[in-house]
Amino acid sequence: MKEMKHIVITGASSGIGKTTAKLLLDAGHRVSLLSRSIERLSDEFDSPNASLVQCDVKDYDSVHKAIDQAFEAQGTIDVLINNAGLGVFDKLADGKIEEWHNMVDTNVKGVLNCLHVALPHLRASKGHIINIASVAAHHVFPNSGVYCSTKWAVAAISESIRLELANEVRVTTISPGAVNTAFIDQTSNEDLLKDYKGYFAEGLSPSIIAENILHAINTSETAVISEIIVRPNRQNK
Ligand SMILES: NC(=O)c1ccc[n+]([C@@H]2O[C@H](COP(=O)([O-])OP(=O)(O)OC[C@H]3O[C@@H](n4cnc5c(N)ncnc54)[C@H](OP(=O)(O)O)[C@@H]3O)[C@@H](O)[C@H]2O)c1
Repeated sequence: MKEMKHIVITGASSGIGKTTAKLLLDAGHRVSLLSRSIERLSDEFDSPNASLVQCDVKDYDSVHKAIDQAFEAQGTIDVLINNAGLGVFDKLADGKIEEWHNMVDTNVKGVLNCLHVALPHLRASKGHIINIASVAAHHVFPNSGVYCSTKWAVAAISESIRLELANEVRVTTISPGAVNTAFIDQTSNEDLLKDYKGYFAEGLSPSIIAENILHAINTSETAVISEIIVRPNRQNK
């Protein structure tokens, strides 16, 4: 019989996070779903194996409270999926400082906040950290310099823990290309939003990323899938 794990996933109220939480529950795992707007999910995640925990990953105290609550409810944390994140596209010369800060605070500091709180639990359980980076952690695109820099940071943090904690925790970095979620709707530059909307709408289904996350979790504990890049099968990434 497959082992039932307790999996904490951030950014679980939408897109990749929500789809992944559903797949993990269907696979028989216990899932703590962390997000700011979690209450609207109570009907969709009405399962004894699903716990909805409000959390703003930018706020260390909020992360501490949420992860403590998840740990106390289940007595272990076996997997942490750092998925919460956002991308706002604009030229650097036109950039809005609050949007830059929001990306850095969410995508980089948010990952660090969650790691800092969850690592002792994950070391104790010989657990698994899955960080959602992006193809933007492998390429730099115009109009997304700040977003790319946050995802390069995620990839660097991820690889560094993998090297430092080999034998203790498994660490997987997953880098999706464009995925069809609400992600692009954060972009406030209306011309760019118009340009990019169709590109993301024709991107991957979030279920493909969810399946890759489950595959990384299911891989034998003697091995780690350290990196996965999943792109739409088209020429322009
Ligand atoms: N879509 C793509 O093309 C794509 C490609 C590569 C990588 N990614 C990455 O995949 C991840 C998920 O994105 P998505 O496409 O699923 O986007 P999405 O549909 O917009 O979902 C983003 C999730 O992040 C959560 N979130 C944002 N800020 C948060 C905060 N401060 N605290 C807690 N949760 C927060 C949101 O929940 P609340 O607003 O309820 O808090 C939401 O659940 C992100 O890290 C993104 O960078 C996406």
